[in-house]
Amino acid sequence: MPSVPDHTETGIGQLVSLAGRTAVVTGGARGIGAAIGRRLAEAGAVVVLADLDLDAASTTAAQLAHETGGTVVGAHVDVTDSATLAAVAERAVAETGSLDIWINNAGIFPTTGPAIDAADDFIDTMMRVNLRGTFAGTREAAKQMTAGGAIVNLASITGLSVAAGISAYVASKHAVVGLTKNLALELAPLNIRVNAVAPGVILTPGVEDQLAPLAAAGLDVRSRLSHNLLADRAGVPDDVARVVLFLCSDLSAWVTGVVVPVDAGALLR
Ligand SMILES: NC(=O)c1ccc[n+]([C@@H]2O[C@H](COP(=O)([O-])OP(=O)(O)OC[C@H]3O[C@@H](n4cnc5c(N)ncnc54)[C@H](O)[C@@H]3O)[C@@H](O)[C@H]2O)c1
Repeated sequence: MPSVPDHTETGIGQLVSLAGRTAVVTGGARGIGAAIGRRLAEAGAVVVLADLDLDAASTTAAQLAHETGGTVVGAHVDVTDSATLAAVAERAVAETGSLDIWINNAGIFPTTGPAIDAADDFIDTMMRVNLRGTFAGTREAAKQMTAGGAIVNLASITGLSVAAGISAYVASKHAVVGLTKNLALELAPLNIRVNAVAPGVILTPGVEDQLAPLAAAGLDVRSRLSHNLLADRAGVPDDVARVVLFLCSDLSAWVTGVVVPVDAGALLR
């Protein structure tokens, strides 16, 4: 079994600090991924924003480096291409000396509709990005985390509940929930913690793009934006990023295999 320090005597600043650690955020160019990158950089990590869109990732990285005073760089990755995942993980170690934190954030939620109309290609694409991308990302990260680490997966409240019209997405996120728990079991001997967050509706560029087409397909996301217990607003990316920071830091050193809803209580309604 790995030796996990008892942090009872460690000060709060040190528990939150990620100084000396290197983090990769897939899908980090915008939305929730960019917000996570900002908090990790603020906490002192060297951050790699890895995305399909290298230009957008590099632009966001430059902006976050400016805002936080930290080191943030952009990189290309396609989570459906494991060679690119391996390359990002290897490069992080080659250039900084370690890989300590990996966030499987890249995900897609294209317009869908009744399950009886879902095409095989559509289902395959959803699973390839959301499930296999998370599995392969974790695998390639774990190979490089020789001193242990923290992995956080982006599940969803739809990975813990159901919603009509988005069955393939719901299946992919339920799979991420199961995968998170099993990888926590398998990677614990390597001192790698694996946890997930399950956001409710968070206003991001990806969600904005889908509001109209999803409504046309029968899922009125707009009506669910403030469908929660806490506030008359949708979530914002930083609502999720702050919880991810907790799961990456030594504040949660004794936490693995959990899925934390970040939904202002929406699951309870
Ligand atoms: N926004 C929400 O309401 C919400 C709720 C629950 C879960 N999530 C999950 O959070 C994650 C981020 O969502 P978001 O709303 O910020 O999305 P977004 O669409 O705003 O941003 C996603 C980013 O991922 C990148 N990406 C897409 N496919 C990729 C691939 N194959 N390889 C690498 N990068 C890729 C995109 O270029 C983009 O920069 C997703 O996994 C999503 O399922 C979002």
